[in-house]
Amino acid sequence: MARSKRGARTSAPKQAGGARAALIKGLNEDLAGELGAIVQYLIYAAKTTGPFRPELSQFFLKEVPDEQGHAQFLSNKIVALGGEPTTTPRPTPAAADNHTMLMKVLEAERRAMADYTKRARQAEAYGDKGLQVQLENIITDETGHFEETERILREWPM
Ligand SMILES: [Fe+2]
Ligand SMILES: [Fe+2]
Repeated sequence: MARSKRGARTSAPKQAGGARAALIKGLNEDLAGELGAIVQYLIYAAKTTGPFRPELSQFFLKEVPDEQGHAQFLSNKIVALGGEPTTTPRPTPAAADNHTMLMKVLEAERRAMADYTKRARQAEAYGDKGLQVQLENIITDETGHFEETERILREWPM
């Protein structure tokens, strides 16, 4: 894909436009996931019920700044690469009770870990070491989210 702005990107890694376009596309999928995660945690925090509502709502809400940071990083990186960041969040799965919400969160965090693992490899292949390291740091965050959620679910009274 030949872009008119190409001449301005002399400092970008020496790759064909196709590899950059594929990377931008992948990062935009990740960004949609992060925007979706913000919505998911905000809305789930509002929807918790029962005796553990205060703790559960706080648990969901404290993930929001992390996901916002990820979204901010991705948006900036997409622009730096010459792309247009998406404004469309990935849809939040419906969930009618606390347990279902936690299961949906676990699913989303598992997907985030897998997607960023793939993206970090893509960034490495593209030749952007800084991006690779940032994506690996995000994997650490998402792994933390996943493990905390999994531990709550482990002792869940059924
Ligand atoms: Fe995230
Ligand atoms: Fe997360």
